[in-house]
Amino acid sequence: MSKPDHPQSEQPGTKSNQKLWGGRFAESTDQLVEAFTESVSFDRRLWRQDIAGSQAHARMLARVGVLTDAEAQAIVGGLDAIHAEIAAGSFQWQQALEDVHMNIESALTARIGDAGKKLHTGRSRNDQVATDLRLYTRDAIDELAGLIESLAAGLLDLAEREADSVMPGFTHLQIAQPVSFGHHMLAWREMILRDRGRLLDARKRANLLPLGSAALAGTVYPIDRHYVAGQLGFDGPTENSLDSVSDRDFAIEFCAAASLLMVHLSRWSEELILWSSPMFGFVKLPDRFCTGSSIMPQKKNPDVPELVRGKTGRVIGDLQALLVLMKGQPLAYNRDNQEDKQPLFDAHDTVAACLRVFGAMLPNLTVERETCRAAASKGFSTATDLADYLVKKGLPFRDAHHAVGAAVGYAVTKACDLADLSLDELRKFSALVEQDVYERLTLDGSLRARNHYGATSPEQVRAAIARAKKQAERL
Ligand code: ARG
Repeated sequence: MSKPDHPQSEQPGTKSNQKLWGGRFAESTDQLVEAFTESVSFDRRLWRQDIAGSQAHARMLARVGVLTDAEAQAIVGGLDAIHAEIAAGSFQWQQALEDVHMNIESALTARIGDAGKKLHTGRSRNDQVATDLRLYTRDAIDELAGLIESLAAGLLDLAEREADSVMPGFTHLQIAQPVSFGHHMLAWREMILRDRGRLLDARKRANLLPLGSAALAGTVYPIDRHYVAGQLGFDGPTENSLDSVSDRDFAIEFCAAASLLMVHLSRWSEELILWSSPMFGFVKLPDRFCTGSSIMPQKKNPDVPELVRGKTGRVIGDLQALLVLMKGQPLAYNRDNQEDKQPLFDAHDTVAACLRVFGAMLPNLTVERETCRAAASKGFSTATDLADYLVKKGLPFRDAHHAVGAAVGYAVTKACDLADLSLDELRKFSALVEQDVYERLTLDGSLRARNHYGATSPEQVRAAIARAKKQAERL
């Protein structure tokens, strides 16, 4: 046998390498490598989850007779003390100890002695980190779901306040038909409630316990994974040890739902930016949610929605990072997965911040009702109503469409609205037009006429609000 390739002074397992895994190593880790491979600078954020997982694991080991009760008690108590230390900000994190898991385990052994060294019996960092991350994702989902509910409640109040306010509804950003401002707010609410549903659906798949999968194949100890699952509030243990230590699809699902949520918030942002511009003037954002320009004294900028729109790119980037991180990995655990944390944390932080700031801003939006109404009366927004009027009088819809198109063309040449044309003028386009046409050409008449489930008449908007209130109680 050839001599191991290391200097005499650096025997394996000696002082030269004091890592928890240092036994087989003949020399200390290169400083560059230590700095390159460490994750404690960012995964320390998992400390609560890590401690909870370790405590459940230790209790289970005592239950199945692998640890004594006294050992398990020492571990649980020691971890409680470390919990308090970290919470107080006095815990010394060490890069040399690589990650959150080994920092806490080392501190435990320093505190309680040999029992601490037994904590890692029957587990690996591979199932440990997967467990921490699933617990984290579950907590993040619960937080975001709560924030979505508050934002949805704010939109509901706004919708109620503005159920009778008329604004132009747009297609192609061209004035299309009058709608209720409240109806528009309820549209936004629907979007984010679906996002909430997607997050909660992802939660079901995230909420399973990987611990017990050990490095990849399970462990020789008679562990009770169902017990640990129960302790940590998981719905049960995962089915397959190889899959459990490897896949991060639960984090990807989280980021996918978060991305879609951000796409929705970004679309609202775009509307708020347009609407608060003097060119539209539909809404005023409160001064305390805007910022000024350092050169142009008149400016009041909608930075909050602009940043929400901008941050959407970040969250989609986080999703992209996780997808690409996963795509080349053979089973089972690979160190690549250490890169899963920052995108997940970033998506969580960014979405939470956006939901919070929108939740505070939207209920304080001032709706400029007169400006909205004036805008809706421009752009022939009741042209479809005139066509529908002619249909009711017996004209086939296509012919009615054509006749009204011609009337609009005429009004354009006169630079007036359809409602400003005289009865004689209107009758040039269809002899079916009578005096009663004018009530159909008003904004309120147009709005009132769309009076069925899901449509924009104020009566229907109020019915939708009543349903939404009932639904909110069940969320
Ligand atoms: N810091 C690692 C991670 O985040 C923990 C698992 C490391 N496992 C290993 N065998 N090196 O993925």
